[in-house]
Amino acid sequence: MVENAASATGPSIATRIGKLDLPAPTLMGSGCYGSGEEYAPFVDLAGIGGIVLKSVTRFPRLGNAPPRLVATPSGLLNAIGLQNPGIDAYLENDVAKFAERPCAVIGSVAGFSVDDYAYVTERLAARDEIDAIELNISCPNVGSEGETFACDPGLAEQATRAARRVTAKTLIVKLSPNVTDIAAIARVVEAAGADALAVVNTVRGMAIDVETAKPRLGNTTGGLSGAAIRPIAVLAVWEVARAVKIPIVGQGGIENARDALEFILAGASAVSIGTGNFTDPRAPQTVADGLRSYLAERRIASLRDVVGKANPGFAGVR
Ligand SMILES: Cc1cc2nc3c(=O)[nH]c(=O)nc-3n(C[C@H](O)[C@H](O)[C@H](O)COP(=O)(O)O)c2cc1C
Repeated sequence: MVENAASATGPSIATRIGKLDLPAPTLMGSGCYGSGEEYAPFVDLAGIGGIVLKSVTRFPRLGNAPPRLVATPSGLLNAIGLQNPGIDAYLENDVAKFAERPCAVIGSVAGFSVDDYAYVTERLAARDEIDAIELNISCPNVGSEGETFACDPGLAEQATRAARRVTAKTLIVKLSPNVTDIAAIARVVEAAGADALAVVNTVRGMAIDVETAKPRLGNTTGGLSGAAIRPIAVLAVWEVARAVKIPIVGQGGIENARDALEFILAGASAVSIGTGNFTDPRAPQTVADGLRSYLAERRIASLRDVVGKANPGFAGVR
């Protein structure tokens, strides 16, 4: 570990993701934080890195039939079904208020065709209130029998390229853990022009009610998040960090600074907190404070000095 004298003002936890300079490496996960207004009474939003907004699609979506959330041991199953007002209403009614946020605001784009990704990215990224775009590619492609973009290297590449063509803003592509070789997907997405990778989205899962003998989610299957998936997510970051040079936003079950450090030591330059906010709305502050203490106790000047430190094959740039 690099031993640097921490400056008089304390160690820096600032980081850089693409063109975004963030004062703290803590993003709030898409679909888990709204645009931050419900959390503002509990957390100083100026102290977080940024908010990744709920994914938006070309057309409005009502989402899946309830129940859409089921608690599982150390985890949460969700099958929201990308409920959102569609890009037209979103631009008209929602985006203006994001200008008030004292942190980075990252728009999340979902789609069901390559054209959807290009269309929604172009329109959302054109707005000044949006600092960067995250591409949620964990969606089925209607053009290829519903194959998930994030699970097919060719589709992942096409969606990334399409979004890259229409914006110069920072483009983060969010990978799925539901693949055999996540490093292979990461490589094609990097080559297609992504500035950063979010690793990972939820893990597929389901739960069955033994009394009714029926699946507990209205949609039958869903995505598992929370502490239960952390070891899966840390491994994914570890593997991706050996395969690409672009920065990684690690996520999956982060609740405190030690959890965040696992991801950072594996090779993530930033982390995202999703489900952890549901049990502790102050988690972003706890994580940031804990990271500073960890660095100060070891006299390390900057968080950047520990990125990938546990990963001998780390290929990224600190
Ligand atoms: C209720 C819920 C809704 C979510 N909605 C989205 C979404 O709209 N777009 C997206 O990219 N990820 C979505 N996610 C995934 C999270 O952003 C995050 O990547 C994942 O839950 C893993 O992190 P966590 O364990 O910290 O929650 C959602 C997760 C939850 C729990």
